[in-house]
Amino acid sequence: MQVSGYLFAVIACSGLTLSVQTGNQTRLESGNDSPPLLLVSFDGFRADYLNKYSFPNLEKFYSDGVLVHELTNVFTTKTFPNHYSLVTGLYAESHGILASIMYDPVTKKNFSIQNDRDPFWWNEATPIWVSVEQSGYRAAAAMWPGTNVNIQNRTLKYTFDYDPKVTFQERLGNITQWMTTDKSVKFAALYWEEPDRSGHIYGPDNSTEMTRVLKEVDGYIGLLMEQLNKTGLWGKINVIITSDHGMTQCSPQRLIILDNCIIPSSYMVVDLTPVAAIIPLEDISTVYKNLSACHIHMKAYLKDDVPDRLHYKNNGRIQPILLVADEGWTIVKNGGLPRLGDHGYDNTLPSMHPFLAAHGPAFRKGYKMSSFNSVDLYPLMCHLIGIAPMANNGSFAHVRCALVSEQCGELALAVGLVIGVLIILTTFTCLFKLMKNRDVSSPRPFARLELEDDGDDEPLLE
Ligand SMILES: *[C@@H]1O[C@H](CO)[C@@H](O)[C@H](O)[C@H]1NC(C)=O
Ligand SMILES: *[C@@H]1O[C@H](CO)[C@@H](O)[C@H](O)[C@H]1NC(C)=O
Ligand SMILES: *[C@@H]1O[C@H](CO)[C@@H](O)[C@H](O)[C@H]1NC(C)=O
Ligand SMILES: *[C@@H]1O[C@H](CO)[C@@H](O)[C@H](O)[C@H]1NC(C)=O
Ligand SMILES: *[C@@H]1O[C@H](CO)[C@@H](O)[C@H](O)[C@H]1NC(C)=O
Ligand SMILES: *[C@@H]1O[C@H](CO)[C@@H](O)[C@H](O)[C@H]1NC(C)=O
Ligand SMILES: *[C@@H]1O[C@H](CO)[C@@H](O)[C@H](O)[C@H]1NC(C)=O
Ligand SMILES: *[C@@H]1O[C@H](CO)[C@@H](O)[C@H](O)[C@H]1NC(C)=O
Ligand SMILES: [Zn+2]
Repeated sequence: MQVSGYLFAVIACSGLTLSVQTGNQTRLESGNDSPPLLLVSFDGFRADYLNKYSFPNLEKFYSDGVLVHELTNVFTTKTFPNHYSLVTGLYAESHGILASIMYDPVTKKNFSIQNDRDPFWWNEATPIWVSVEQSGYRAAAAMWPGTNVNIQNRTLKYTFDYDPKVTFQERLGNITQWMTTDKSVKFAALYWEEPDRSGHIYGPDNSTEMTRVLKEVDGYIGLLMEQLNKTGLWGKINVIITSDHGMTQCSPQRLIILDNCIIPSSYMVVDLTPVAAIIPLEDISTVYKNLSACHIHMKAYLKDDVPDRLHYKNNGRIQPILLVADEGWTIVKNGGLPRLGDHGYDNTLPSMHPFLAAHGPAFRKGYKMSSFNSVDLYPLMCHLIGIAPMANNGSFAHVRCALVSEQCGELALAVGLVIGVLIILTTFTCLFKLMKNRDVSSPRPFARLELEDDGDDEPLLE
């Protein structure tokens, strides 16, 4: 008993060593026969919706897989920057999609959600679907931002032109069809606009509307599982469901009106709220001074003074002055509140964080993690499909515990604890027996009976 206990302890310790070694991102044990990966994003799915609303299908999904309660996403917590961070593992300053509206001062080009097809904006990074195709596999995508753009001189064969009118069922139907008819599809991405859209229109505090839309989203997760099951993919492929950012409530009582602080002709706005990109048209120090003093719930930064933790400084597309509103505050030039819910704020705010759930042969079952960074997803995905990751800002070590193949510190610790307890119990049992044997040798009425008992552990009478 004791010997086997120590043996287990030794095994547990070697498990710990092994886990350190597998933390190496360059190790690709999954190889070429690794199963395909499907990445799904429900836009604007705030992490704590999971605590406030009911999700029977999502719960079914992660109870047989992994749930990560919240992801720390990247600044600005907007749709395009974060969708690109998920698939590149880079902060916005390093992948170049800095906002959903951008201006390039060198080429004088403009970027917006309606005008996003110019490769110029995307080519500062290599998204995972390009690496997948460069590795000789195929990638497929339905509406994921950037997947219909020719990036690094690659255009996907299986892709959609962006069209919000294409239903979830149609996007999903095409994805599963591509994955089943072409076995070389190694990576697929699926995007859906809700609950972001309703969050903006009604505000996340409107529980009536949020209950409605989140029930709909959970229904789509049910549909996803059903469709994967029907096509034989369920349980065979790895599936990750996540989002780009959260959502917070705005109010007409929380407006920051720039026209109250600065002459309109003295600056140009590239992007406005809750993070404004400002180009001064007059002396920059005057413009900066007026904007700095504009409102206690808005911070102004000169480009070089943007805090390092935001990773939002080193890129030519970041404008000379950056304004950042406090949570729930809206920046306007003049006029009223544009929408009741918004995101884009500081990425340390819990309301800006999305969640992540995963299912499939690579993932533990019924495993929960409190959080990791959204840039950590990229090295995880590269590991899952067995391709080499590009240089990135994520860490495989943060996420590896979600995988069945990884010996985790926590697991080894738990095993070690169990073994420790067993050793202590064994020791006590032995001591107890020794003491009992001593008692036996003392003259007592039933001593003989005990001695006659043929070696059984428990004395019959005592
Ligand atoms: C671990 O990573 C380093 C570079 O980060 C690489 O040089 C080394 O070969 C890797 N080791 C293994 C075992 O993959
Ligand atoms: C880009 O946007 C700015 C500001 O709205 C505008 O003045 C400029 O003409 C646009 N440039 C192009 C090339 O469309
Ligand atoms: C872009 O790809 C095409 C084929 O897809 C190839 O003919 C062309 O040479 C490539 N251009 C560059 C600059 O790599
Ligand atoms: C693929 O999407 C198109 C809409 O673009 C739709 O008409 C078609 O039915 C979809 N295919 C499947 C298999 O769902
Ligand atoms: C939620 O939105 C609906 C539809 O706009 C509206 O009728 C209702 O008053 C809102 N509820 C709250 C609590 O704001
Ligand atoms: C998959 O389909 C089988 C047979 O219809 C069913 O028993 C099972 O519950 C389904 N699993 C999921 C996750 O939908
Ligand atoms: C800056 O603010 C001052 C005082 O409110 C105002 O007089 C001045 O016109 C403003 N300057 C600009 C460039 O907006
Ligand atoms: C993020 O990764 C890129 C690519 O390796 C690198 O250039 C950049 O310095 C990294 N950023 C930080 C803050 O480490
Ligand atoms: Zn979004």
